[in-house]
Amino acid sequence: MSRIVYVNGAYLPAESAGISIFDRGLLFGDAVYEVTAVIDGGLVDFHAHQQRLRRSLGELGIDFDPASIDLMGIHQGLRDRNGLDEGLIYLQISRGVADRDFLQPEGLEPSILLFSQALPLIDSPAAERGLAVITREDLRWGRRDIKTTQLLYPSMMKTEAVGGGADDVWMVDNGTVTEGSSSNAHILTADGRLITRGLSHDILHGITRAAVLDYAREAGLEIEERPFTVAEAQQAREAFATSATAFVMPVVSIDGQPIGDGRVGESVRRLRSLYIERSRERLTF
Ligand code: PDD
Repeated sequence: MSRIVYVNGAYLPAESAGISIFDRGLLFGDAVYEVTAVIDGGLVDFHAHQQRLRRSLGELGIDFDPASIDLMGIHQGLRDRNGLDEGLIYLQISRGVADRDFLQPEGLEPSILLFSQALPLIDSPAAERGLAVITREDLRWGRRDIKTTQLLYPSMMKTEAVGGGADDVWMVDNGTVTEGSSSNAHILTADGRLITRGLSHDILHGITRAAVLDYAREAGLEIEERPFTVAEAQQAREAFATSATAFVMPVVSIDGQPIGDGRVGESVRRLRSLYIERSRERLTF
């Protein structure tokens, strides 16, 4: 059975779905996206992803009201048509199709595409062994808070990391860690504080980050929102990344330097379980 995807109003087999070569998402990266996890057949943090989508569209001035179509129904439609129990649903909205022009045209019909991907998210071998990350200068653009499809640099850096035997990259701006290639970055200090960069244009305002901070606060953890250096991260007791598909993912080495004893620590293990447990209580079906 072929995968069913959604493009501009129609559910189609992936092989017969297409998009114009003049789509501004393709020519300019003039598009925004969201990735929503599915576990136990339910959507994780669906409403928060839709809120961020609305914000990203507004920041790029793409004239489209996400409430004008039934995005939740389309997510559910893809899940049901593809029998998706665990994995992700990807959603992309571009400004639309027009002759190539650096000036953003007004009044275009946005292109909307969604597809699902089955993936094991909960039983993750990476979460058992923890990630090795390398650091690289953050050469992305200055509005990383907008979830755009301009992912060339993070993709290059992730490929370099994996080519060199690591798992991912943490990006660094002025000596302090911004985020991973597709995740937010956090550390736990020796005295148990959770340090995470505050929200600004420097990082994507992660939905998983926000949920994990709420759950961690409720569990009594002290949270400090501030930039941290690579050296501070290397000396931390534990380190981890968060994203819609990685959930809470332990990081056990940075630039070859083991974090703590170089193994997945208890606090991050607990935070991962807590996140999965709380998400399961709040799924959207
Ligand atoms: N990426 N930072 C970046 C650069 C990201 O691309 C992502 C998510 C995050 C975490 O955000 P959230 O918790 O809302 O997923 C942070 C998704 C998963 C992706 O591109 O596949």
